[in-house]
Order: sequence, then structure tokens, then C-alpha cells
Amino acid sequence: DKPIRIALLGAGTVGSQTARLLVEECDDLARRVGRPLELVGIAVLDPSKVTADWIDRSLLTTDSEGLVTRADIVIELIGGIEPARTLLLKAIESGASVVTANKALLAQHGPELYRAAQDHGVDIYFEAAVGGAIPIVRPLRESLVGDRITSLVGIVNGTTNYILDEMTTKGLQFEEALSDAQAKGFAEADPTADVDGLDAAAKAAIMATLAFHRDVRMDDVPVEGIRSITADDIAAAKAERRVIKLLVVAERTDQGISARVYPALIPDTHPLASVRGSFNAVFVTAEAADDLMLYGRGAGGAPTASAVVGDVVTEARHIAQQGMGPIIPMYARIPMAPLEAS
Ligand code: HSE
Repeated sequence: DKPIRIALLGAGTVGSQTARLLVEECDDLARRVGRPLELVGIAVLDPSKVTADWIDRSLLTTDSEGLVTRADIVIELIGGIEPARTLLLKAIESGASVVTANKALLAQHGPELYRAAQDHGVDIYFEAAVGGAIPIVRPLRESLVGDRITSLVGIVNGTTNYILDEMTTKGLQFEEALSDAQAKGFAEADPTADVDGLDAAAKAAIMATLAFHRDVRMDDVPVEGIRSITADDIAAAKAERRVIKLLVVAERTDQGISARVYPALIPDTHPLASVRGSFNAVFVTAEAADDLMLYGRGAGGAPTASAVVGDVVTEARHIAQQGMGPIIPMYARIPMAPLEAS
């Protein structure tokens, strides 16, 4: 079978882990899709900075514009608005579907990209843009689309959650905790986006757009970050058996819809209080479904790559089935491993 061609833009924290999954799981992914997947190139600014030993160096290129025109699926993991926007539009125009983790881009130019994709009969997948490994985009976009979502409350930035957590449990200073979060690969290239709540605001805009079926942009989301929170604030909260969490709150009210990001004091018995480190959690309330809670690793290379590759497989299955009918994979019958005697 002709391979489905995958192009990867970016080989940073998430990009290199995505390449690892595509390479290491190659045979299994081909089985799950029904056709082989071939990584045809990885575009980076400076190939000499790519050190991951699972990356075949002959795939590295600095010609991102050329690369996007020779793929069936383009994965964008470079972040920021430009050149990501132009490259994705170019990919879409040349008939490729795109998978992106770029929340800032979607929260500012989502409608332009969705329209371009629609015009060219391709799709945009962005499960990794919100909540890292947590499946939150697909439930909002698909599973709950028949219901009426009334509110979303969540922790969707791993860096700030990690910082607040380290300040609370280890008494670390803000700067020390931020350096740890950066070293662990949770933070954005410019961590001010995390600390000032802008990363959470972008995710709030994406979730509110999907939940409320309106075009919500990042600029519509009032934001307050965690920069001004001191060790004293945390101690005062602790004395009252409360914790400080950076929350996204999006609601449908009689006055319309709203989405905000702000640090909130919550009782230490609240389920969101136990969301530790770089984990994220989102509570969704819908009229018929009632309450749902999604929880998992919200940041980091491998967890985010899991969501990226999930999107790649979904689109690859569509391509393999030429968009005809529902996707019900058929599996070969193989003997089960014997159960361990207890
Ligand atoms: N910088 C982001 C975070 C990465 O800390 O949550 C995941 O989007």
C-alpha cells in the first residue's frame, strides 16, 4: 500500500517526542490505520540543534515551505503565530490535513484556518492544543455536540499549576519553581505566556468556541496571571484550608457567554485542589449529560505527543478509507496471552 506521507514542523520538546512515537510505533500504527505512515521530513530552523538519537538526520530540512507541499498530513509543532499560520495555510491549500498543538494560533486565527480547511476539503485537528494528553477537544467537538454545555471550569496550564504547587508544598520561591517547570519541558518557549495567564486564555477561547458554538477569541477573555502571588498569599490561603489555583471559567448565562482566567482561592477539599504538578483537569457541565471531569497530564513532551499522534492516526484512517463511511477498524484474531495464576 502507498504510504500516507507525514511532515513534521518543529523538533522541540513535543516535536521530538512526536517523531519518536511515529518512528518507534511505526508498524503498530500502520496496522491500526490499515496503511503505512511515512515520516517524509522534519523542518527545523537549525538541524545542528536536533540531538534526539531516534531522529533520522536525513529527514531534517530547513525548507518548511517545500516540505508542507509534499505531505498528506502536516503536523505543526513550532508554536507562535508566524510562520506557523502561513505554513498551515500553505499545507491546506496543497490539500493536506493538519494537526497542530498551537493554541495561540487557533485562539487568534482559528476561523481563518477552519474556513480554509473547509474550502479545500481537508480537516484541522488540535487535540494537543488544550490539556496536553487529556482528550478534551474531541469530547467538546464531537461527543457532547448534541448537548447544551452550560459551563467549563478547569486548570489548563501545567506550568502555573506546577509553580503554585511547588510554592505550596515545598515553600519554593516563584522563580525557583518556574525554572523547574522550564527544565521539565512544561513551559512555553517564552514562559510569560504561562505565568501571565495568556496560554490559559488561548485554551479558554478554544474550549469556549467548541462548547458554545461561537467564535471566541483570546482577546475576548479577560486574564489575570499568577505573577503577583506571593508566598504570604499562599500561607494565608493554607491557614484557611484553601489553595490558590489558576482557573479558566467559561459559562453560558442569560446575559450571553463569558470566559475568564484568574487565580482563585478554592477549598482544599475541592476536587480541583488535588490537581498536582503539571496535571490539568476540566469540569464540564452540560444540560443532559450533567457533570463530567477530565483529568490528566496537561503539559510535557510525551503526553502532548500522545494527543498529536492520536490526531494523526484519526486523519490517516480517514485517508485510508478515502473518507467513505464510518471508521470501524477490523482486527485480526490473535491468541490471547494466558492469564497469570493468582
Ligand atoms: N506551557 C503549557 C503548559 C504547555 O504549561 O500547560 C501545554 O500547553
